[in-house]
Amino acid sequence: RRSSDLKVLVTGGLGFIGSHTVVELQNEGYEVIVVDNLSNTSLDVLDGIQNITGKVPAFEKLDLREKEKVQDFFKRHHDISGVIHFAASKAVGESVEKPLLYYENNISALVYVLQELQQKPEANFIFSSSCTVYGQAEKMPITENAPVQQPMSPYGNTKKIGEEIIIDVAKVTNINAILLRYFNPIGSHRSAEIGELPIGVPQNLVPFITQTGFGLRKELSVYGDDYPTPDGTAVRDYIHVVDLAKAHVIALQRLLNKKNTTKVETFNLGTGTGSSVLEVIHTFEKVSGKKLPYKIVGRREGDITSAYANTDKANNVLGWKAKSTLEEAMASAWKWEQKIRG
Ligand code: WQD
Repeated sequence: RRSSDLKVLVTGGLGFIGSHTVVELQNEGYEVIVVDNLSNTSLDVLDGIQNITGKVPAFEKLDLREKEKVQDFFKRHHDISGVIHFAASKAVGESVEKPLLYYENNISALVYVLQELQQKPEANFIFSSSCTVYGQAEKMPITENAPVQQPMSPYGNTKKIGEEIIIDVAKVTNINAILLRYFNPIGSHRSAEIGELPIGVPQNLVPFITQTGFGLRKELSVYGDDYPTPDGTAVRDYIHVVDLAKAHVIALQRLLNKKNTTKVETFNLGTGTGSSVLEVIHTFEKVSGKKLPYKIVGRREGDITSAYANTDKANNVLGWKAKSTLEEAMASAWKWEQKIRG
């Protein structure tokens, strides 16, 4: 099916991963419509997207918790071939403090969108999930068959519950879905026109590093160096956000071309390589030429020791492989930091 006559809805499409996915969809010739409630982003991201692709996606401000508004939206847009669902709150720490905000936002938004999709003759749904559903997996690298454990945070639990809702709904409707379990998304588009918008004090490692590198933060606190890892600091699988975005387009095409073998398929999206906090710091220093001030402090509540993906299924079944190195990803993150502070 030619992408040019297909319309794709991207919820949360002005967010960090959403905006990068909109760019890749437009690059593939899809017509994109974005909904976002702008709670964690800004309309400037539309300009960033246009500066990259030359095309402004259609946009409607919409809070998916408002059921009637969601129904109205789908009444006015009945020609949507696929939905990529990013819209959710995603700050792990905040989810511990305000669980009901997360359960209301992340679950009801998903339910209201699925209620509209189940009425369509065909529906293709890509869900933004997270490796956090594995908790601390027993075996590294982590495969899709690793047991889903009680995630460490309400945020992670909303991803686990979201997956379960989709599986139950797909069983009895015409909805086909792909669950994409992200490892640690970092970096920004090479143009530095879009990236991770810094709102408040960054919880994630890489934006905190680049802000420290720029002199906005005094020093980085490394949360523990007493983990059972080569250098004592925790290990994660840092994946370039553009690689991640491309995987969403490939997953959507798989459903549009009816290549999926089951109603719901799950893929881990990572590089397959684990990097420690100290390795990320040293990589930043290498690409920026700056010394990063940091201090070792106690472990952060809820953190796991190690997580990195077994990428065989994504490589061989989905036909996708991450291309960017940690160095390239860190360089793009640093370029973005300098651009927005310039
Ligand atoms: C990475 C490593 C920290 C900050 C979470 C969510 C996951 C996804 C990505 C949303 C850890 C260490 C961090 C700092 C540090 N989020 N760190 N000092 O916790 O692996 O994953 O964010 O979709 O779902 O679970 O990412 O970037 O917070 O931490 O030492 O100031 O860096 O301890 O080892 P995390 P992170």
